[in-house]
Amino acid sequence: MKFFIDTANLEQIKQAEDLGVLDGVTTNPSLMAKEGITGQENILKHYVNICNSVSGDVSAEVIAVDFEGIVKEGEALAELHPQIVVKVPMIPEGIKAIRYFSNKGIKTNCTLIFSSGQALLAAKAGATYVSPFIGRLDDISQDGIFLIEEIRHIYDNYAFETEILAASVRHPMHIINCAKVGADVMTGPLSAIIALSKHPLTDSGLEKFLADHKKGN
Ligand code: G3P
Repeated sequence: MKFFIDTANLEQIKQAEDLGVLDGVTTNPSLMAKEGITGQENILKHYVNICNSVSGDVSAEVIAVDFEGIVKEGEALAELHPQIVVKVPMIPEGIKAIRYFSNKGIKTNCTLIFSSGQALLAAKAGATYVSPFIGRLDDISQDGIFLIEEIRHIYDNYAFETEILAASVRHPMHIINCAKVGADVMTGPLSAIIALSKHPLTDSGLEKFLADHKKGN
């Protein structure tokens, strides 16, 4: 399973990259705003900075919601850097744009996926990635992991090449459960990735090893 980090924070991206387990980055307009990145020129510069900090795919989201606007914005984003993946919302105009980008060899990430029907449509249009938001489904008492399982089943039935990018991951159990049901990629915060390394028996075991070593010396 690929690990993407879901942030526009360069420091956190660097920390994840330094761990040696990072395969890419996802951003969205809310995450860019959270870092105080505003204005078109700054936003585009920031995407290039992110691309220069990692070696994998970097999702950059369009703001337009009409076909022509999505295409114009997406083409400009794709020209910024070869690592850019154009993130497009799951709306009919977005589907048309994903088909257009796919025909032109531009990578896409279809975002705001909350049902298997939406994921099927995105795959039919040729999306590179599909982003089901599992945390937001859990928030409203629906089962985010079950959606990943359903999409996995559907994609495997027809050998769709679209990768399932589990998004809105909030904690380590989301990552583990995504891995159990076969998500291709997960994107989450640095805290959830680091939390995978934690276990109290690891801490107490290490403490004992170090204490015993000290006694013997
Ligand atoms: O990857 C999508 C993500 O940024 C949304 O996460 O926690 O706002 O639902 P969240």
